[in-house]
Amino acid sequence: MILAGGEAAALLLERREQVDALARVGLGKLDFDIGAELERPYALAWVAREDADVIGFLLGWQVADELHVLDVVVAERARRRGVGRALVDAAMTDAVARSLRVALLEVRRANVAARTLYRAAGFVAVRLRPGYYDDPVDDAVEMAKELAAGALVEFERLIED
Ligand SMILES: CC(C)(COP(=O)(O)OP(=O)(O)OC[C@H]1O[C@@H](n2cnc3c(N)ncnc32)[C@H](O)[C@@H]1OP(=O)(O)O)[C@@H](O)C(=O)NCCC(=O)NCCS
Repeated sequence: MILAGGEAAALLLERREQVDALARVGLGKLDFDIGAELERPYALAWVAREDADVIGFLLGWQVADELHVLDVVVAERARRRGVGRALVDAAMTDAVARSLRVALLEVRRANVAARTLYRAAGFVAVRLRPGYYDDPVDDAVEMAKELAAGALVEFERLIED
């Protein structure tokens, strides 16, 4: 079951230990504290729940008319069952309902699972940041998905002379 908004945030806080354990495999180099993350007024959360357990979550930031996907993490035991895709799809649906126009994220080039998931969900690679990550060193692939038709083309227009 996928929860969004306040319901998702409440479950993340309530199941903090499970969330910390999940966060250790995700969130790259962010110093993760779910309470602090959720206090940000622009933070958005989606949670996959199975019985009493948090088996996955997606954290995002709403920045102007953009959704920044910070991370998606699914418990190892629950992977390849469509949970990650369901979280991404739920976040995209909510973002459209909020009139956001584009979703953005960055992912390690070596993270084939995540890149494949994002591509399947409609994201396209728009830029490469060589050596962006460390420990281990990796390139960042920036990916974007249009939520409103033409939103990515508008970026192009903004920088035209
Ligand atoms: C990436 C992650 C969230 C995927 O979650 P998931 O619930 O297993 O993903 P889904 O079952 O919804 O998979 C959806 C699609 O993504 C792709 N995919 C998922 N895992 C994959 C893998 N290990 N290898 C290749 N493709 C993969 C497949 O196309 C899959 O569809 P399919 O199962 O029909 O082939 C999960 O592997 C994870 O938590 N990884 C660690 C944290 C992380 O790296 N997060 C991303 C940071 S940017």
